[in-house]
Amino acid sequence: MSKVHVMDHPLISHKISYIRKEDLGSKDFREMISEIAMLICYEATRDLKLQDVKIKTPICEMTGKELAGKKLAVVPILRAGLGMVEGMLAMIPAAKVGHIGLYRDPETLEAVEYFCKLPVDCEERDVFVVDPMLATGASSVAAVQMLKEKGVKNIRFLCIIAAPEGVKRMQEEHPDVDLYIGALDEKLNDHGYIVPGLGDAGDRIFGTK
Ligand code: URA
Repeated sequence: MSKVHVMDHPLISHKISYIRKEDLGSKDFREMISEIAMLICYEATRDLKLQDVKIKTPICEMTGKELAGKKLAVVPILRAGLGMVEGMLAMIPAAKVGHIGLYRDPETLEAVEYFCKLPVDCEERDVFVVDPMLATGASSVAAVQMLKEKGVKNIRFLCIIAAPEGVKRMQEEHPDVDLYIGALDEKLNDHGYIVPGLGDAGDRIFGTK
């Protein structure tokens, strides 16, 4: 069974409360999404392997630590996932970025693929799939499935707010994918929105409503 990491850092909780407010404008919403992504990325990279490196400081020689050269990739689920990319890259600038486009069928709420462009060597990379909202889990499950079909083995999923329904579905369908969640909310409503949530993350990031 996958591990579910619900963030308990005060900065993350504070920033998530801030972006929930309905009167927050797109500019502030976008900036805050990016900052929260950075903080969740920090938690989701805690177990990256290190190796020794010889360093000469202005004072003396020493053995320091550096990342052990593991290749990483960030894969946002379009379109709301794009809002998290900048924050992720601020933490892991050498990561490549792939994109997966899925839309939610309004009737069935299931995910339908319309775009997939991944780094050529994606199967050698540890992949961080990002989407601000884990709601029904339909698009996250489908995105992870697409990555597995391309040969990706190490996948983590990062979101800002999750519903219990989406967490359950991800754990059932992808028990090998650990989840990093900024806040775990109460439920989904009849339209597939997270309650209390923050509304439509894509519309709020891009100012389309
Ligand atoms: N997608 C969103 O943007 N918000 C939700 O509440 C659910 C899915």
